[in-house]
Amino acid sequence: MTKPALNRRAFNALSAAFSLTFAATAVPRRVQATGLAAATDATVQSQEHTVKFQDGKIVPAIGQGSWHLGEGRHPAAVEEEALRTGISLGMTLIDTSGNYGAGHSEELIGRAIGGKRNKIFLVTKVEANEATGEEMARACDASLARLKIDSIDLYLLHWPVPVLQFAGVVAGFEELRAKGKIRAWGVSNFNTRQMEELFRVPEGHRCATNQVPYSLNNRGIERDLLPWCKEHSMPAMGYSPLGGDNRLVIGDATLKRIGEAHGCSAAAVALAFVTRSGNLIAIPESGSPAHVKENAVALSLSLTPEDLQALDAAFPGPNTR
Ligand SMILES: NC(=O)c1ccc[n+]([C@@H]2O[C@H](COP(=O)([O-])OP(=O)(O)OC[C@H]3O[C@@H](n4cnc5c(N)ncnc54)[C@H](OP(=O)(O)O)[C@@H]3O)[C@@H](O)[C@H]2O)c1
Repeated sequence: MTKPALNRRAFNALSAAFSLTFAATAVPRRVQATGLAAATDATVQSQEHTVKFQDGKIVPAIGQGSWHLGEGRHPAAVEEEALRTGISLGMTLIDTSGNYGAGHSEELIGRAIGGKRNKIFLVTKVEANEATGEEMARACDASLARLKIDSIDLYLLHWPVPVLQFAGVVAGFEELRAKGKIRAWGVSNFNTRQMEELFRVPEGHRCATNQVPYSLNNRGIERDLLPWCKEHSMPAMGYSPLGGDNRLVIGDATLKRIGEAHGCSAAAVALAFVTRSGNLIAIPESGSPAHVKENAVALSLSLTPEDLQALDAAFPGPNTR
């Protein structure tokens, strides 16, 4: 048997460590910090940016979204290949929902992760109108069946319900957790006030994350939600991190210029920006293997203070002076 060549991830990391110029070369934080001598195979394996949940679980800082997968934008086989490419490059957190493509997204993911379940951190969602008692259990079983798995790693409430229903939703999640159908639960699209209310109900503090929109051109959560998450040692999850279908940021000249300096795409720079705190997981979606490869570079890309300053000026946030 021939020895497999270095995969792209390992090659990129080594290229960066030895200051080679290569189309997808990134600057791994660990290599910068530890210097050339430490750029052994072991560091190549461990230098990617990760995020730690409160229960100690560590996941990659860049995952994969799937809102439009399974809807025919790309051929299904290409979308499955895109997901598998992402997994092989380290983007092993996959985000979906029972209602994406009326269940087709979960089915496609179920096929793509076949045989790789142990490598994957699977996030899916229950809708607000299904979030009570038996309805939630039924929705969870349906997702498990479509994904062909026994347990969901993280089950999210897709959109907020009225505050008075928070206790019931948490009780439903905790029941699923006790039965082993989910390992953790969280919420999505909650504002800071709703997070405060959630933490007031019994077991509400067990919420693992809040999945909210976050991109260079949508930085509103920097005002209070991100500081709140940090204060409560809770990682946030950023959706539409490239700006979403209709407001993609990747054509921006500053992003392109910084990407050229690092030898990577504008998309990778945009993803590195949103994950810069170390307390946010970005979930870009792509049904294109080539795009997925570009996005995966952000797993080991560290922007310089000058890069961050230039991006802050090009895309002012709520705290930009
Ligand atoms: N919780 C919620 O309420 C909520 C709401 C929205 C989204 N989400 C989650 O977040 C995920 C991502 O959000 P999103 O899909 O709205 O926005 P996004 O990830 O910011 O953008 C997706 C778009 O970017 C393109 N793209 C991806 N990588 C690219 C690259 N390297 N170069 C050029 N184009 C690229 C994709 O097209 P190609 O397929 O052609 O690459 C697609 O059109 C969703 O899939 C979903 O899982 C959650």
